[in-house]
Amino acid sequence: MRKNIVAGNWKMNKNLQEGIALAKELNDALTADKPNCDVVICTPFIHLASVTPLVDKAIIGVGAENCADKVSGAFTGEVSAEMVVSTGAQYVILGHSERRAYYHETVEILEEKVKLALANGLTPIFCIGEVLAEREANQQNAVVAAQLASVFSLSAEDFGKIILAYEPVWAIGTGKTATPAQAQEIHAYIRSLIVEKYGKDVAENTSILYGGSCKPSNAKELFANADVDGGLIGGAALKCADFKGIIDAFK
Ligand code: PGA
Repeated sequence: MRKNIVAGNWKMNKNLQEGIALAKELNDALTADKPNCDVVICTPFIHLASVTPLVDKAIIGVGAENCADKVSGAFTGEVSAEMVVSTGAQYVILGHSERRAYYHETVEILEEKVKLALANGLTPIFCIGEVLAEREANQQNAVVAAQLASVFSLSAEDFGKIILAYEPVWAIGTGKTATPAQAQEIHAYIRSLIVEKYGKDVAENTSILYGGSCKPSNAKELFANADVDGGLIGGAALKCADFKGIIDAFK
């Protein structure tokens, strides 16, 4: 059976000392009160090597928020999947809408990133989701289907290693959450696409997270849906109590 997962996306927040403090606080809180789901924190690159030894691997996985679409070499400022792995990190967020919008990451670039992440043993948390104008034009299904092209070129075995996150862009950081019914509807659609492409077994085993203004007060009703297997959390992952409140939605 697929896993329930709550993953934090710190984005470009917290300096190193603040990040270390948050990771320690979360580790203490979840050691004292064990989660009922997998927990992942995705941090800026520079935090990874400091944070991975601080957390109990059996309780908290650590991930990056991006990696390069190249193996190595003259790509000033880039960080490769292999470098991410060398810090002890196990996950990487790929295809976040902010990377697509501000750094022009295309379906093709993301396909390369996903392949390199998998080749290095990282678990991609692959994000898809429509912008407001697309939702208003009822285009959300076509948009997510097109975005899935980056991962639908994988073998069934490799596809089975990834985590998907549906994040409607209009709900990210806006305080405007998709309703539980909206989330369930599109998650079920995404799973139906996986059934078509890879069959029922692979689809049933794929965790599909919801992201976009998820907080302790709405996590339970979102996660209660059959096809919502947890959350990718931005703002609420920056405070231990809020993040734990969302994790506790699985209790
Ligand atoms: P948010 O961000 O929870 O702050 O809306 C979610 C995300 O961008 O992953």
